[in-house]
Amino acid sequence: MSNICLTGIQPTGKLHIGNYFGAMKPLLELSQNSEIDKILIFVANLHALNSIKDAETLRAYTTDIVLDYLALGLDINKTSLFLQSDIRELTELTWIFNNLVSVAYLERSHAYKDAIVNGKEASMGLFDYPVLMAADILLYKSTIVPVGQDQKQHIEIAQKIADKFNSQYGEIFIRPKPYIKSETAIVQGLDGRKMSKSYKNTIELFEGEDSIRLKVSKIITDSKAPNEPKDPTNCNILSLYRLFASPEEITHIEGQYREGIISYREAKELLAEAILNYFAPIRQRRQELSLQPEYIQDILNKGAQNAQTSAKETMNQVRKAVGI
Ligand code: ADP
Ligand code: TRP
Repeated sequence: MSNICLTGIQPTGKLHIGNYFGAMKPLLELSQNSEIDKILIFVANLHALNSIKDAETLRAYTTDIVLDYLALGLDINKTSLFLQSDIRELTELTWIFNNLVSVAYLERSHAYKDAIVNGKEASMGLFDYPVLMAADILLYKSTIVPVGQDQKQHIEIAQKIADKFNSQYGEIFIRPKPYIKSETAIVQGLDGRKMSKSYKNTIELFEGEDSIRLKVSKIITDSKAPNEPKDPTNCNILSLYRLFASPEEITHIEGQYREGIISYREAKELLAEAILNYFAPIRQRRQELSLQPEYIQDILNKGAQNAQTSAKETMNQVRKAVGI
């Protein structure tokens, strides 16, 4: 059996550090792993229709995400990068899956419940989100899906749908496994809550230097004075700094915290510097790529062709199995 790694990201805004450490970096690590045969990454623009209702905005966010992904340095020979909407088989499979899950089961989705509590309209698209996501995963017979903790339940729904389909119609689908790294499963935002576009507490990967410094300067801390000992285990600055610093740097700053020889302002400056250094090469590459739209279109076309080949194979099996 081949090992197929797949992930998607919605073009609903600029990528942030939480997206990077939760979903993108694990994927880059997996792409170095010789046991992974194929990598599929798509821009989940059909999912994004849930929240983005303006065509120009959706197109702009889509281009942004494609550039972001490419700038990260994906191995293009092993990876297919494509737009979700380019694979028409996906919506057909979603419809077939819709007949295998109950309303009551989907009503248990945390993401759905959260969206409703936060005042989002309960559209059919929002409700059916996990089924479309299950089709994303199963259509290409993905075996491993790198995501942040918040997507775990969606992967479980995909597993359940695979099981149901297989027991009803015969073994066609592979049960996918989530790949969630515990240290980056939930990256904290500026306010200490999960970093998320919806909480407006993000630091974007490619935002301007000044803006990054300003945001970091606003990270919420307690009110300890510069020369007071501080708790390194409970600090919003350090929880982000740990993502960027080496183990020695982390031990060093933790010592400074305990001894009370570093102020929060100084720690924030270190953090801002660490973020800027970390992403500097990627920023440069992104800038170069943004000047090569034809090269990018070519990558997307090739990616879609590869994805389509395996989507067609699966759908031939599925259509035969269900009798259409
Ligand atoms: P957002 O919550 O900002 O809208 P998305 O839902 O678009 O982010 O998430 C895209 C991917 O990034 C998903 O795999 C998700 O689990 C991951 N992710 C998002 N925020 C975080 C976070 N704060 N920590 C870890 N992973 C995250
Ligand atoms: N729901 C995911 C998110 O909000 C995006 C997504 C759509 C996805 N389809 C997927 C992630 C399939 C992994 C696999 O982040």
